Amino acid sequence: MRISVFGCGYLGAVHAACMAHLGHEVVGIDVLPEQVQRLRQGQAPFYEPGLDELLAQGRASGLLEFATAPEAAATATVHFVCVGTPQRKNELGADLSYVRAAVDSLLPHLKPGDVVVGKSTVPIGTAEQLAEVIRGAVPGAELLWNPEFLREGFAVEDTLRPDRFVYGIADTDQGRAAAAVLDAVYATALDAGTPKIETDMATAQLVKVAANSFLATKISFINAMAELCEATEADVKSLADAIGHDDRIGRRFLNAGLGFGGGCLPKDIRAFMARAGELGVDQALSFLREVDSINMRRRIRMVDLAREVCGGSIVGRRIAVLGAAFKPDSDDVRDSPALNVSAQMQLQGAYVTVTDPKAIDNAAKRWPDLVFVTAVEDAVAGAEVVLVATEWPEYVGLDPVALRGMVKTPIVIDGRNCLDPVTWRAAGWTYRALGRR
Ligand code: UGA
Repeated sequence: MRISVFGCGYLGAVHAACMAHLGHEVVGIDVLPEQVQRLRQGQAPFYEPGLDELLAQGRASGLLEFATAPEAAATATVHFVCVGTPQRKNELGADLSYVRAAVDSLLPHLKPGDVVVGKSTVPIGTAEQLAEVIRGAVPGAELLWNPEFLREGFAVEDTLRPDRFVYGIADTDQGRAAAAVLDAVYATALDAGTPKIETDMATAQLVKVAANSFLATKISFINAMAELCEATEADVKSLADAIGHDDRIGRRFLNAGLGFGGGCLPKDIRAFMARAGELGVDQALSFLREVDSINMRRRIRMVDLAREVCGGSIVGRRIAVLGAAFKPDSDDVRDSPALNVSAQMQLQGAYVTVTDPKAIDNAAKRWPDLVFVTAVEDAVAGAEVVLVATEWPEYVGLDPVALRGMVKTPIVIDGRNCLDPVTWRAAGWTYRALGRR
């Protein structure tokens, strides 16, 4: 099939490369010329495991093209909308200007029978408005809503082998015909037995924000328990293990620590609250405000813990922060708890040196005043406190004995509960973590 993908960021670039990998002819369209240039050279504009290989493969096969001009979509029959919906400045709600601009730029090139597939995360009601615009401009063209659930770091895997498909479809013959077209696009995964839920537009949009809200709630739940653990000398990791054995609860997403960040969970729960307010049901989501607050408190508590281990003040103290990305296997620093805490400590007078295997460039753009180094050894040299803020495997696997010889004071704060306290203490370190004795 001939496919266009509007927006070549974390979602769109991966989607375009994966669709070409499945044998479709794909053109990815983005307004940023540098982004398009890199993609044409087969290089991902961000770090995502497996993506460079897929881009190179797509370019070599001739199935994957990139362009800045929306005219490139003219020969495609299926058009995916994958542009970002960031949080609006000084508001909770989502900025839909990129979605509207993408659809507007597509309209002159749309033909009857074409299918537009919305994948961006949008406030409920957006899809219905876009569908009207599309049907009004090009009778016979149809819009489906098909939210994505990919995780950064696993984006290729999640796109090629998703755990489910959700289609939001208008209850008309045209809507059902459009769904059949999307089935053909996803034939490989559907034939392999991937579950598909066909529903109305509103539910499809809700599925996405409900899923992210649930995940955020799960993380904040265990972080609230961490606060309880801190007050009672209990251990949050044992607690998570113990409750996680109950299948109804499950152990995943119960890792207490610095909390959630990134370009999705924080802004999605806020946009969801804003939309609920507009719909007159803000009470239904008032718990999300608490979820957000618990999450933000972890960052403050982390700075307090650093102050505590420094004997009451971090002014002039050397703190090495391992990790800048919002999670491992990503170079994304959007709303990164690691970077937020690093910046707070620096603003409060500490000498902070940050390292990260992939995210230093992005982090330095966001916080140019922080000191960044590439090697862990350089970051920890002479440090009075080492703070593990992102659980990259290379940090989890650090040898505490070797590291001890490099620091000034062997104090480690495990911001992600990812180190073994017994081994670190045995190597002579003072080990501290959120929610643990
Ligand atoms: C999230 C969702 O997991 C995806 O399903 C969704 O498609 C995506 O948002 C999106 O909306 O596009 P992602 O932002 O890549 O994916 O990251 P997650 O793996 O969900 O992690 C989010 C944050 O939660 C990270 O900062 C991570 O460190 C933190 N986290 C995760 C915890 O603090 N504890 C945990 O147990 C799990």
